[in-house]
Amino acid sequence: EDTYKIRASLLEWYDKNQRDLPWRRRTTQSGNGKNVKEEEEESAYGVWVSEVMLQQTRVQTVIDYYNRWMQKWPTLQHLAQASLEEVNEMWAGLGYYRRARFLLEGAKMIVSGGSEFPNTVSTLRKVPGIGDYTAGAIASIAFKEVVPVVDGNVVRVLARLKAISANPKDKITVKNLWKLAAQLVDPSRPGDFNQSLMELGATLCTALNPSCSSCPVSSQCRAFYNSKNDESVKVTDY
Ligand code: ADE
Repeated sequence: EDTYKIRASLLEWYDKNQRDLPWRRRTTQSGNGKNVKEEEEESAYGVWVSEVMLQQTRVQTVIDYYNRWMQKWPTLQHLAQASLEEVNEMWAGLGYYRRARFLLEGAKMIVSGGSEFPNTVSTLRKVPGIGDYTAGAIASIAFKEVVPVVDGNVVRVLARLKAISANPKDKITVKNLWKLAAQLVDPSRPGDFNQSLMELGATLCTALNPSCSSCPVSSQCRAFYNSKNDESVKVTDY
């Protein structure tokens, strides 16, 4: 079935081609005295910070900001002690300062509630500033909850895979793509699967000049198929 092929091909491609990004490094190893829950919570904090930074900013720019942020506030507990001025100063240049304030407010809320990091989409959604996208990213990447993540890149990738011509700016289209993503997400590796879709959209399945000849899922891609069989159709039509 298509779904299984798509999952396997994307994950295999991601394992070989994922970029080495600081928030993907897992410095903690089993046997270091930490239990799995502590490791997941540490990872959740880093995923949260990076995903919020990545919302309006390119990966290349985010790397430095992320490293500086984590040096200053290595854990959620450190961040909860920061002032709004310090956080804004660290954010300078990233824009949309509301995002920094939400991170600080969210950290304070979680820490004052007993420090247990929310580990599901529904509990994450209650944190100020965490919407569907960030909740899905943290839950799937850090806690392995089998939930989808749909950002602008994923919208484009899925629309092409399934040759959906509906306007991706329409709310209903995006809602349908979330449903589709929920059916597609790999239950054994949800975080890697979600990141493989984002990564594919960022690197090969780009808005302009997509690299279909290098794409791991071109043989499952309806837009690619249509473009091969009808000269008037282009992959970038989707
Ligand atoms: N863009 C935003 N978040 C991302 C992630 N986790 N992996 C790849 N690209 C991204």
